[in-house]
Amino acid sequence: MTASYQVHGDVAVVTLNHPPVNGLGLATRQALVAGLEKAGQDAAVKAIVITGAGKAFSGGADITEFGTDKAFAEPNLHTVISLVEQSSKPVVAAIHGVCMGGGLELSLACHYRVVAPGCSVALPEVKLGLLPGAGGTQRLPRVLGVEAALNMIVSGEAVKSEFIAGMPGQKLFDKLVSSPEALMDEALAFARSVADARPLPLVRNLPCAHPQGDAYFQFARNMARGMAKNFPAPAMCVDAVQAAATKKKFADGLVAERELFTQLMWSPESRSLRHLFFAERAASKIPDVPADTPLRKIEKVAVIGAGTMGGGIAMNFLNAGVPVTMLEMKQEAIERGVGVMRKNYEAQVRKGKLKQDKYEQRMALLTTTLSYDDLKDADLIIEAVFEDIGVKEAVFRQLDAVARPGAILASNTSTLDVNKIAAFTRRPQDVVGMHFFSPANVMKLLEVVRGEKTAKDVLATVMAVAKKIRKTAVVAGVCDGFIGNRMIEQYVRQAGFLIDEGCTPAQVDKAIEKFGFAMGPFRMGDLAGNDIGWAIRKRRYVEHPDMKYSKTADLLCEKGRFGQKVGKGWYDYVPGKRDAIPNAEVVAMIEDYRKSEGITPRKIGDEEIVQRLVFSLVNEAAHILEEGIANKASDIDVVYIFGYGFPVYRGGPLNYANEFGLFNVVAAMRRFAQNPHDDAAFWQPAPLLARLVAEGKHFA
Ligand code: NAI
Repeated sequence: MTASYQVHGDVAVVTLNHPPVNGLGLATRQALVAGLEKAGQDAAVKAIVITGAGKAFSGGADITEFGTDKAFAEPNLHTVISLVEQSSKPVVAAIHGVCMGGGLELSLACHYRVVAPGCSVALPEVKLGLLPGAGGTQRLPRVLGVEAALNMIVSGEAVKSEFIAGMPGQKLFDKLVSSPEALMDEALAFARSVADARPLPLVRNLPCAHPQGDAYFQFARNMARGMAKNFPAPAMCVDAVQAAATKKKFADGLVAERELFTQLMWSPESRSLRHLFFAERAASKIPDVPADTPLRKIEKVAVIGAGTMGGGIAMNFLNAGVPVTMLEMKQEAIERGVGVMRKNYEAQVRKGKLKQDKYEQRMALLTTTLSYDDLKDADLIIEAVFEDIGVKEAVFRQLDAVARPGAILASNTSTLDVNKIAAFTRRPQDVVGMHFFSPANVMKLLEVVRGEKTAKDVLATVMAVAKKIRKTAVVAGVCDGFIGNRMIEQYVRQAGFLIDEGCTPAQVDKAIEKFGFAMGPFRMGDLAGNDIGWAIRKRRYVEHPDMKYSKTADLLCEKGRFGQKVGKGWYDYVPGKRDAIPNAEVVAMIEDYRKSEGITPRKIGDEEIVQRLVFSLVNEAAHILEEGIANKASDIDVVYIFGYGFPVYRGGPLNYANEFGLFNVVAAMRRFAQNPHDDAAFWQPAPLLARLVAEGKHFA
C-alpha cells in the first residue's frame, strides 16, 4: 500500500505511504490519483487532505526509479499535479517532516497548505544538476516572491517551515499549526473551514514579477554562473524563474521550464552528479557482506599515534560524540598532538563554525595515555604510527596482548601489507585497514582495506562507523597503494614524462586544473611533501628496476625542495601563503635533465596533457577492477572525487572515460604507446578495458 484512503466525516484523507520518505514513485502516484478520484465521486466528501505517513510529507521523486521507465510513466507527476489543481473539491496539503522536490511541487498544486513546525522545505534538484521540473520554478516564486524562491531553487538548501511561515507576505503556507502532533486535527478543521469556498485558489493564478525586471535576472544569472562555474543548472534555474516572471501565460512558463529541464537532464554535468549520487550510496554495499550482518558494538575508540593523522582521526570521533583514548610514546608527543587538535578546533570557533561549549564538550571526550593497559576496553583501535613495518609489528603485538576479545584493530597504513600486519596478531579476522586521507578531520574519503582474513562483521561495522563519522567509505583489497594511491602513482609518473618532454610544471598543473582538478600534480606534490614520493620511488627502483620514471623529482628532492613545508618545491612559497610561484632554478634543472637524456623538447598541448594524466588513471583503474581490488567501477569514481579532487561535474575517472567513449580512450592509449619517451608497456590497454571496447560496452 503506497497511499491509504480514509474518510473523516466530510473530509477524505489520502495518506502517502511509501517509506522512507514517501517518494512519488509510480505506485504512489497511482494510489494518490485513485484516492482523488474516490473522493471526487463521494458526494459526502466536501474536502480532501493529502498528507504523508511516517516522518515525511514527501521527499519527492522515488530515487529507485531514476533512469527507469517508471520515473515518467503515467500518471506522471505533471498529470497528478493537474488532477489536483482540477479537483472540484478543495485539496489541502497537510505537510510535516520533509517536503522536498516533487513533494513541494505537489503541495504547490493543492488549493491550500497547512504545515507543521520543524518541516524541512526544499527544491534540491540543482544538487543533481537539474531544476525542479514539475512547476516548482513557476509556482514557488508566486508564493514566496522571486528572490526568496530563487535563493531556494539555486542553492537547493532546505528552509524550515516556521521560517517561511514568518516571512512577510508569503503565500506558501496558509497555516502553521502549533506542533506536528496537532497537524491532522488542524488540517481537518482547516479543510472543513474552506469546504464551501469558491472559486478555489490556485497558485498558478498569482502574479509573479520582480520590480527590477530583467536587470535583476541578469544579476542573478551572473551570480549563479560565478558561484558554479562548471555547472549549467544554477544559471538555468534563473532562466526558468525569469520565464515565470515574464511569460504572459502560466502554461508558457511551464513549457520553458520543461525545455530547460530536458536540456539539463541530458547534460554531462547532471549525468555525472546523478552517477555520483548513486555511486556514493552503492559504495557502502559490499557484494558478499549481507546488509543485515550484525554489527559489533563501537562505543569507545582508541587512536595510537598523535601525529599528523592520529589527531585528525581522533577529531572525527570526538565530533561524533564518541570517547577517544589517544596513546603515544612520550608525553611531549601527546602535548604536541593535542595542541594541534586544539588549534584546529579554535580556528573553527574563531570562524564561527563551532560554538565554544561544543568545542569543550568534544575535548572532554578525549583522554590520553602512555600505557597500553588503558586500551583494554576499547572497541575499535586505530593505529597511526610511523610507516614502518617494524614499528607496526611492535604495536600490533602489544594490541593483541591487551585488546579485549572482539575489539577491531585497524591500521591507517598507506602502503604496507594489511595481511602482514594482521599476521602479527592471533586474531587476523579482527584486523582491517582504515586508510584516512590528510587532513583526516576534513577529507571525506576513507578506504577500508579488507585483509584476506578480515571478518565480514568487522567490515560491516567499519562501514557503519564511517557513516557515523560522516566519511564516504570504499572497500579496497590489499595491494600496494590500495585504490587511490596505486592510481595516482601512474598519474604522477605521466606528469614526470610530460616535463621531460617539454612542459613546465606550471603548464601541466594549469591544464589539468582547467580540466577541473582541484590541484595539478606538481602543486599536489608540494602540498603532500615531495619526500614522500621520493621514498616510495627509492623502494620501486629496488623492487621494479625496469620501471621507467622521470628523474626530475629525485633531482628536486636532492636539492631539498620538499614542498610547502620548507617553502620550496616545484614552486616557491611565501610563508603563510599557499600561492605557487614558478621558480627559474627548477625550470633550468628540468632543461639540464632533458639535455642529459638527449631529449629535444616539444610543445605539448593541453589536450595531450589532460588525456595522458586522466587515461593513466583509467588504465590502472581497469587493472584494479579486474584484480578485484575494487568491487565496482563506481567505487573508483568515489575514491577520486572524495579523495583526490577529481572534478565532480565529470563524475570520476571511469564515468569520464565512459562519456569520452572507451574506444576513443583506447585509441589514445595506443598513440601514447608510440611515444619513445613514455612507457609503452604501461599504455597497453588493461585486458578489461580492451574487452569492454571489443564488446562495445562501458564501465558498469
Ligand atoms: P607522523 O609522523 O605525523 O605521526 C606518527 C606519530 O606516531 C608520531 O607522533 C609518533 O610519536 C607516534 N608513534 C610512533 N611510534 C609509536 C609507537 N610505537 N607507539 C605510539 N606512538 C607512536 O605520521 P603520520 O603522517 O600521521 O602517519 C601515520 C600513519 O598514517 C602512517 O602509517 C602513514 O603512512 C599513514 N598515513 C599518512 C598520511 C599523510 O598524509 N600523512 C595519509 C594517510 C595515511
